[in-house]
Amino acid sequence: MEDYRKFRPAYRARRLRNSEALRSMLKETRLNMEQFIVPAFVRYGSRVTEPIPSMPGINRYSVDRIGKYASGLADLGILSIMLFGIPDLKDSIGSQAYAKDGIVPRAIRAVKDAVPQMVVMADVCMCEYTDHGHCGILDGKRVDNDKTLEVLARCAVQYADSGVDVVAPSAMMDGQVGAIRAALDETGHADTVIMGYSAKYASAMYGPFRDAAGSAPSFGDRKTYQMNTANAREALREIELDVQEGADIVMVKPALAYLDVISQARRRFNMPIAAYNVSGEYAMVKAAGMNKWINEERVVIEILTAIKRAGADLILTYHAEEVARSLRGR
Ligand code: PBG
Ligand code: ZN
Repeated sequence: MEDYRKFRPAYRARRLRNSEALRSMLKETRLNMEQFIVPAFVRYGSRVTEPIPSMPGINRYSVDRIGKYASGLADLGILSIMLFGIPDLKDSIGSQAYAKDGIVPRAIRAVKDAVPQMVVMADVCMCEYTDHGHCGILDGKRVDNDKTLEVLARCAVQYADSGVDVVAPSAMMDGQVGAIRAALDETGHADTVIMGYSAKYASAMYGPFRDAAGSAPSFGDRKTYQMNTANAREALREIELDVQEGADIVMVKPALAYLDVISQARRRFNMPIAAYNVSGEYAMVKAAGMNKWINEERVVIEILTAIKRAGADLILTYHAEEVARSLRGR
């Protein structure tokens, strides 16, 4: 039993971990602020900064405050914001989603006025605007795909008219990217970018977002349009369709439980890939961090690095501002 003493590993992986400098030089995945997109909730009223209880650190802002918020993000090196509107009026057809002076068009103009260089994105969906909370127009209890395409296209054109750089359809209707591309092209918006929520799962991780936006469905669930959480091959089909329909950027959502999907999409498509680190993922980390059950700052960096390592070029995350502050403080 002396043999083990003679064994000398030829390769010693630990050699390259011996100092902070070596570890730092050999780091394969780096986070930088250019790749973060900050989701932001915009509401009616004036001088309102309203905390969202299930998303500690995140607020709803009134239109008069969103420009200031965006310029603060820009000062931290953040290049992009994704706007979500909370209207003061909901109806069965979600008419406030595409109203000319609706909440999102006003927020787009406010951000563009305050920070012209910022890449302004707008989520395109009906669930924040419908009184039933579903992502489209109902026919009885079912969401009517093709009727919904018309209203999604109207939203996209309205946001483009208001100066948005990127529209991001998230309703999971078949053909939504193609319908929006055609409508934008017809209305002189050939340069407006489309980021498809291509592989969006019917996840249980959107709860805090639905609190924030008041967009939970009043009956049923979203399983007839959002994807089954068990499916990965189907995600690749969804992404492929969005690419064929003219998406410029494709997204996987949520991020953390779907790193395999991000990784496969990275290998399969030569497209920019975004990943959405969603509200429930954020809330879980915040809750554990507030209880001191985890070292929150380290966990956040570990999670975001993992999303990037899996293959995401862009990351939508509610952690962006705090990460920017801590990277800056270093
Ligand atoms: C709208 C939309 C949702 C999210 C982004 N766009 C909610 C949903 O599909 O129910 C979720 C984002 C998050 O949880 O952070 N369809
Ligand atoms: Zn929706």
